[in-house]
Amino acid sequence: MKATKWVVSDKKQKHVYWPSKEMKARAWISSEKVYAEADKNPTQFWGRLAKEGITWFKHWNKTYEWKKPYSKWFLGGKLNACHNAVDRHLETHRKNKVAIIWEPEPINEPTQYITYYQLHKEVSKFANVLKKLGVKKGDRVGIYLPMIPEAQIAMLACARIGAIHSVVFSAFSGESLKKRLIDGEAKILITADGYYRRGKPLNLKSQADFGAKGTKVKKVIVVNRTGAKIKMTKGRDYYWNDLMKTVNSECPVTVMNSEDPLFILYTSGTTGTPKGVIHDTGGYLTQAYWTTKLDFDLHDDDVFWCTADVGWITGHTYSCYGPLSVGATIVTFEGAPDFPDPGRFWSIIEKYGVNVFYTAPTVIRMFARFGEEWPKKYDLTSLRILGTVGEPIDLDAWLWYFKIVGGSRCPIIDTWWQTETGGTLINVLPGVGPFIPMVAGRSFPGIRHKVLDAEGKEVKGKEGYLFQDKPFAPGLLHGVWKNSKRYKKTYWSKHNGEYYDTSDGAKIIKGKYIRMTGRTDDVMKVAGHRLATAELENAINLHKDVSESGVVPIPHKIKGEVPLAFVILEPKAKPSDELTREIISLTRKIIGPTAKPEKVFYVKDLPKTRSGKIMRRILKRLLNNEPAGDISTLRNPESVAVLKSELKKLKL
Ligand code: PRX
Repeated sequence: MKATKWVVSDKKQKHVYWPSKEMKARAWISSEKVYAEADKNPTQFWGRLAKEGITWFKHWNKTYEWKKPYSKWFLGGKLNACHNAVDRHLETHRKNKVAIIWEPEPINEPTQYITYYQLHKEVSKFANVLKKLGVKKGDRVGIYLPMIPEAQIAMLACARIGAIHSVVFSAFSGESLKKRLIDGEAKILITADGYYRRGKPLNLKSQADFGAKGTKVKKVIVVNRTGAKIKMTKGRDYYWNDLMKTVNSECPVTVMNSEDPLFILYTSGTTGTPKGVIHDTGGYLTQAYWTTKLDFDLHDDDVFWCTADVGWITGHTYSCYGPLSVGATIVTFEGAPDFPDPGRFWSIIEKYGVNVFYTAPTVIRMFARFGEEWPKKYDLTSLRILGTVGEPIDLDAWLWYFKIVGGSRCPIIDTWWQTETGGTLINVLPGVGPFIPMVAGRSFPGIRHKVLDAEGKEVKGKEGYLFQDKPFAPGLLHGVWKNSKRYKKTYWSKHNGEYYDTSDGAKIIKGKYIRMTGRTDDVMKVAGHRLATAELENAINLHKDVSESGVVPIPHKIKGEVPLAFVILEPKAKPSDELTREIISLTRKIIGPTAKPEKVFYVKDLPKTRSGKIMRRILKRLLNNEPAGDISTLRNPESVAVLKSELKKLKL
């Protein structure tokens, strides 16, 4: 059977694609009208969506409230996120539908299919385990798990009893885990003995042990994944399987207020310490549900695969809460995309008939490098919609994805959003279009963005700073954990706190389409992972031979950006390859492998402001062979010329 063409190109314009008749006929939204309707009264619009998509135990008294700088949705409304993602499907035709298809990394290990009925049992049992260990509503639970179904089960079990989960990416170091556990004051940690990566079982427990030490964690639950021999601390550590045998599967859901926190998730900002972004229950879930359903035009018979790890916001919203509350079947994959060979992802799409595939540009660029012969070996005609997220997608990657993966049939939904926004905010809807490379799309219906200049004046057709206007998206963060000062300073300190500051640059084209132009602060995206330059500098500065360092991102063909470190050594220390290796391994140890600097340059001085702040902007310019700009206000303007000549010698 010939695969349906879901898009058609516009003959007159280059690389402008529109939804086909079939796509429009199937789509939940097929007309532009929704934007104007939503914009007439966004509060009413979101109220309608929340009522239609989410199951509430009690309807709210007030749809929206803005008390600068806190935005609240569905005040007085009562619900439970786990009830929405799991329980409610049991009363429908979805009861025995597969909720999670889990593909382990080892190819000889069988797939696990978990139906909504089974998921309900497992989640309820694990919620009882948590209760038995003393977890109560509002307590924080650390989750440090690889991509195994227990990750989603643990998250949903927390949601079921009103505990606040704090998921930490399993590739983060024990040190990173510790920081997050301390800040969140987690009393339980859920981890695994290990997981498979590129054919090898990796030990996760030793990192978890390191992370838990010196924190308020009283109990550690260990998923038996690899069966490796690990150290278990008596009275603190318990195996998941043993605990699950001691409980039954009856566990009523806890009724939550709409604004009760559902989770905290740490993300990088401009300072060296990651911040705990708080997401609430009602607003977040409404946005997760509707963006999943509309952005990917998700229908009941669809198989949805978001490749993001649950350690990131994309994994929270689109590998868990969003698609499960819609009642979809999701794919979860444990391993590396190119193991045992670069056909692995494509083989998974063929094997399970994936209809909607959502991944990051860095993955696409990596596969493009491996060559089109890999996707061509597999039948990918089940694909209907392709999504991308996390960083800008360049024209080559977009076209490769569109032509080679999507067979020139599927729209590319380029979704712009952030950890703080909880769900997508800028993208094209599949039934509306157009799909244009490097134009993320337009603000989701009911969301208002503004592009402003430094003075706060709106700029049209030119690059500026992207802000969100009122009423703020239901999924927008509800604060920074234990740090309201930082919350106010980071997001609401410009233009009298009237708009949410995204810290991204953007340009509005033809009055409505938005082209993203990158971060405007000291945050980088390395292979789609968010990293603060200051975090890396802090790690590098821990080396005894390092006096100071400045980190800046430089473009990279596959990863988008990579960090480059300028290092000033202590007077007695000498640059060497050995020292470079030590510095790199220190960043891996303190943060994780994603933070590894691509290059380390030893320099004598770095340009600084009068207050001693390293001028990363100047470092970036010099690396790009651009003029340094105004250096008259520097404390050490002479450092610029020295640095220039040092860089010349390095022959960049
Ligand atoms: O700079 C934007 C970039 O990623 C940042 C948010 O990163 P994080 O909180 O890790 O969330 C990533 C997943 C939602 C943004 O401030 N970004 C995200 N998506 C895009 C993007 N840049 C360009 N195009 C995108 N589609």
